[in-house]
Amino acid sequence: MNELIEKIKKLKKEKNAVILAHCYQNAEIDEVADFVGDSLYLSQMAAKTDADIILFAGVYFMAQTAKILCPDKKVLLPRLESGCKMADMISLNQLREFKSKHPGIPTVCYINSTAEVKSECDMCCTSSNAVKVVKSMNADKILFLPDTYLGKWVEKQLGNIEVITYPGFCPTHLQIRPEDIKNARQQYPNAPVLAHPECHQSVTELADYVGSTTGIMKYAIESDKKQFIIATEKGVVDRLQRDYPDKEFILIKENIICPNMKWHTLTDIYNALEKEEHEIDVDKEIALKALGCIDRMLEVSK
Ligand code: 13P
Ligand code: SF4
Repeated sequence: MNELIEKIKKLKKEKNAVILAHCYQNAEIDEVADFVGDSLYLSQMAAKTDADIILFAGVYFMAQTAKILCPDKKVLLPRLESGCKMADMISLNQLREFKSKHPGIPTVCYINSTAEVKSECDMCCTSSNAVKVVKSMNADKILFLPDTYLGKWVEKQLGNIEVITYPGFCPTHLQIRPEDIKNARQQYPNAPVLAHPECHQSVTELADYVGSTTGIMKYAIESDKKQFIIATEKGVVDRLQRDYPDKEFILIKENIICPNMKWHTLTDIYNALEKEEHEIDVDKEIALKALGCIDRMLEVSK
């Protein structure tokens, strides 16, 4: 494995490439990554980079977002199979139908959506800035898609804005049930529960902290506590346990794994860099409209 890691690092230098890795990736990918983090952080890093090639170890919509932000760069996704089940739950036609049922209401889309969908929404958000983005719209009603649970969680945080949600969800986070939290609390009574807002509201209601993957990691790193119950994808637990061996991180239940995120291996990354595949392209007109939606979010998140 060390040899492969060295070969990837060498190729990166030769080709002036950066590797962005989401924290749900297989943890060994961090060995070759320049930036590891949540969706917001990675899109901010993509927007800033002066590399010629961006290799995205993440899911399709993340690489697509990087391409929209950096149209002149080559953006590579090692495995094209790496889609996002939630992003696939809303097509452009379904978005149009949703909007036509609620005319005149501003639309916020989660970054977990296609470029086509982003191109017809007012502003994009990630799990770490969704509350801020919705608030910044200055409206008393908002359409939110595709994640109904993130939307409803935002509504609860703000209290005075009606968030009308599209019925999309993340199949990985929906495996977590309120009884899992109750059981884990019984077993680890001193451990706070840290949950991702893609979880069902009956789960986030029981959590001590709700936030993005980076938010969860930051909370656990900065806390004086020694044990933590983590209600999100396993990659977060793997990284925390590797980097903070004096603390204990308990995955809420076995197999909370996003199979889409786990497609990429170090071998795939090497092959992708070497052959410069699979290049992500976005129709220029759609990309321009989607860029407005993403840029407005980046502006609000500064
Ligand atoms: P983050 O915004 O925490 O990176 O979450 C992205 C995601 O797809 C979680 O399922
Ligand atoms: Fe999509 Fe869920 Fe995987 Fe995140 S965890 S990439 S929302 S399928």
